[in-house]
Amino acid sequence: MPSESTPLIQTVHVAPPRHRYPHNTCRRFFTIASCAILIAGFTTFLINSILIWPYEYNHGRRSRFSGPPPGVRIGLDHEELETILLDTPSSERAEEWLRYYTAGPHLAGKNLSQAEWTRDKWEEWGVKSNIITYDVYINYPRDHSLTLLEKSKKSRDWDILFKASLEEDVIDEDPTTALEDRIPTFHGYSATGNVTAPFVFVNYGTYQDYQDLVDAGIEVEGKIAIAKYGGVFRGLKVKRAQELGMVGVLIYSDPGDDGEITTENGYDYYPVGPARHPKSVQRGSVQYMSTRPGDPTTPGYPSKPGVPRAPANVSIPSIPSIPISYADAVPILKALNGHGPKSSDWNKWWNQNKGLEYKGVEYYIGPTPDHVVLNLNNQQEYLVTPLWDVIGVVNGTIPNEVLIVGNHRDSWIAGGAGDPNSGSAALNEVIRGVGKALEAGWRPLRTIVFASWDGEEYGLIGSTEWVEEFLPWIQAANVAYLNVDVAVSGPHLRTGATPTLSQIIRDAAHKVQSPNQTVEGQTVADLWDGKISPLGSGSDYTAFQDFAGVPCMDLSFEGATEHPVYHYHSNYDSLHWMKLYGDPGFKYHKAMSQIMGLIIANLVDSVVIPFQAAEYADALGSYLDSVEVKLEAKRGEPTTEVEIFELRAQVAGALDDVKGSMDAFKESLRAIRESICRFRIKALEVDELAAWANHELEADIPWWNIIRRIKLARTIMKVNKQYKFLERNFLYDSGLDGRSWFKHVVYAPGLWTGYSGAVYPGLVESIDEKDYVNGLKWAGIIKACIDKAAKSLE
Ligand SMILES: *[C@@H]1O[C@H](CO)[C@@H](O)[C@H](O)[C@H]1NC(C)=O
Ligand SMILES: *[C@@H]1O[C@H](CO)[C@@H](O)[C@H](O)[C@H]1NC(C)=O
Ligand SMILES: *[C@@H]1O[C@H](CO)[C@@H](O)[C@H](O)[C@H]1NC(C)=O
Ligand SMILES: *[C@@H]1O[C@H](CO)[C@@H](O)[C@H](O)[C@H]1NC(C)=O
Ligand SMILES: *[C@@H]1O[C@H](CO)[C@@H](O)[C@H](O)[C@H]1NC(C)=O
Ligand SMILES: [Zn+2]
Repeated sequence: MPSESTPLIQTVHVAPPRHRYPHNTCRRFFTIASCAILIAGFTTFLINSILIWPYEYNHGRRSRFSGPPPGVRIGLDHEELETILLDTPSSERAEEWLRYYTAGPHLAGKNLSQAEWTRDKWEEWGVKSNIITYDVYINYPRDHSLTLLEKSKKSRDWDILFKASLEEDVIDEDPTTALEDRIPTFHGYSATGNVTAPFVFVNYGTYQDYQDLVDAGIEVEGKIAIAKYGGVFRGLKVKRAQELGMVGVLIYSDPGDDGEITTENGYDYYPVGPARHPKSVQRGSVQYMSTRPGDPTTPGYPSKPGVPRAPANVSIPSIPSIPISYADAVPILKALNGHGPKSSDWNKWWNQNKGLEYKGVEYYIGPTPDHVVLNLNNQQEYLVTPLWDVIGVVNGTIPNEVLIVGNHRDSWIAGGAGDPNSGSAALNEVIRGVGKALEAGWRPLRTIVFASWDGEEYGLIGSTEWVEEFLPWIQAANVAYLNVDVAVSGPHLRTGATPTLSQIIRDAAHKVQSPNQTVEGQTVADLWDGKISPLGSGSDYTAFQDFAGVPCMDLSFEGATEHPVYHYHSNYDSLHWMKLYGDPGFKYHKAMSQIMGLIIANLVDSVVIPFQAAEYADALGSYLDSVEVKLEAKRGEPTTEVEIFELRAQVAGALDDVKGSMDAFKESLRAIRESICRFRIKALEVDELAAWANHELEADIPWWNIIRRIKLARTIMKVNKQYKFLERNFLYDSGLDGRSWFKHVVYAPGLWTGYSGAVYPGLVESIDEKDYVNGLKWAGIIKACIDKAAKSLE
């Protein structure tokens, strides 16, 4: 080519210069064209290989541009993946894992070998796993006694009327109940103390129960409370007792709350029949879960060795408490007979107490006179000790999009067949399925992190500390968290979730066969009430949802009032009970693994994150309805147990102490409503865009149609980013009033219920306290969050 130029210059004088132009134009055209083709080719390659190809690769589709040669299969298509995740879980294997976990005690921080076993199993199934350790402040039981005393009429001594056994009976058929090293009955985070005082029956010990006592002029200060289990989190029963100056708390399981299945109704008790064993005791934590979960001494940061420690008393009680059986409660309740008012003469929240009437308990409120007292002696050892989370990781092909799936491993008792190890067994079967899929060539698009948490029972410690440690990464990468705690204690599917995830649960429930084949072919969804509740607290999703702003779901199969009584946190939550009553044949364990497997497949294998933003908008609207109903005090008779306890957990501010203007507050709710409408429009747009992208993915776009491919790839990336970060907009950095650890403005555990989910906690608490100044503040914060969420979807 260069040789050509010389004659051209030489002919300048003879040839018209313009002859150069066509020639050069031609050359330029070719140069540019070839560059363009190169760039286009490279771009196509990039688009295909980086953006689209992994999706097709993953789905076993042979891309015309870069796919494997015909006949060579790599990857799995979605149906094949689902088939593996449906076919792998087996009832026999689930039983085998459950037998392992329930063979010995595994109280938080007490069983490293179970963490190692879990890690080794996961590794064996092809999931790279590690143990992560935290040093946490925790208590173990030392000694306890409970004695009913009466001043002797003859001398100045006290006669012992009754000494509680504080033990659960050994049952010959059930080996876990007879273990030498079985765990005593006690409360996690209860205070050491030795108190002697008259006592008062406080019903369920809800905020309003205590308020009714105060309003009736019953003296509670200096007394010991005896409360029924139920409704609100046990720690809150103790918290309010302490605030009112009470010196100790007993909490017992009243068979009146066992529905149909009671010995009074003629049912035998475990192991002969399905009713509650009279000696069964519900252990459990008395941490103030709605104030702050996790290690009480490391608020907001991980409990690593050597970190500074804050005073624990912000989130744990300083008065002693112990859990007792109804067999131990009967003599104590009977000692109240004839003292103070009778429950049946009080309002409807009290006059339902009948569960132990057949045993001679008349449910008098008391207090007992000074010569009838209880001595409650509770000795706890407090120390800082290691806990072990097992974390397994399956890397995905998309960077920075992660699904986390967790279950806790620790249990109050050697058994724990339902809580939590039915979940551990189901999770293991899910992981075995994922391992099989990986073996078959599956490469998940998104990373999956599996977690076996320790220390959940004391206060969601293992998960909370982990979230606190990895918060920046979780907030940058975590798409969703799937929790399973008690996978099975009966046959009814119960779910809770962030509304963006609801459809994912429904889809999975429709694809899994119910273990109940009374009607052939019926699915889990066919026998499900379809209810998906807002998440409060009570399991390991709490830190994900309320601290990190991650959408969460929680799944379980539970019994209803007509099913065998589940001996929650008792020695009788054993493998033997599970085989006999909870899940004979372990079919519901298998079904749970299948549902979880399908949810995981959907979340990590769908190119477009399968969220529904509009469903969130609708939920925000309906939560606002409930706030307005509450404000107008239009609330009808509560019907569900949750509604009853929500009502009873209200802190009713004094009528003559209203702060601010209710009208201005109402106006601010209207403004929230408008923001929700705008959010809904944006949410619908994103959902439509997601549907469009899914449609385009189905259409086989030719490799050379770069524009269409770029548009699709850009849309996918945009929608996925918007879905992933949507939930984060609902976090408010300063946190809720008086409990700054809780950052979510839409969801929180009820301040005085603990378990059940309060929606718009800032608004609801302000209404309860009739503090509309504070209400206005919260309306502003919530509106700003919703506006931010709407903006994030633009
Ligand atoms: C730990 O758990 C295993 C399996 O359940 C059990 O065999 C063992 O006794 C437990 N170890 C301790 C120290 O309790
Ligand atoms: C996953 O990817 C990370 C970061 O690239 C890497 O450090 C880690 O070893 C990988 N883990 C597995 C199990 O492949
Ligand atoms: C607890 O108090 C009782 C009654 O005051 C007393 O007899 C007993 O020795 C105390 N026990 C402990 C362990 O302090
Ligand atoms: C916690 O203990 C500290 C001192 O140890 C005390 O000053 C503070 O009042 C206590 N707080 C509560 C809520 O009991
Ligand atoms: C099984 O399903 C049928 C409905 O098809 C229902 O009536 C029955 O109560 C279910 N049985 C159990 C044990 O859940
Ligand atoms: Zn649990």
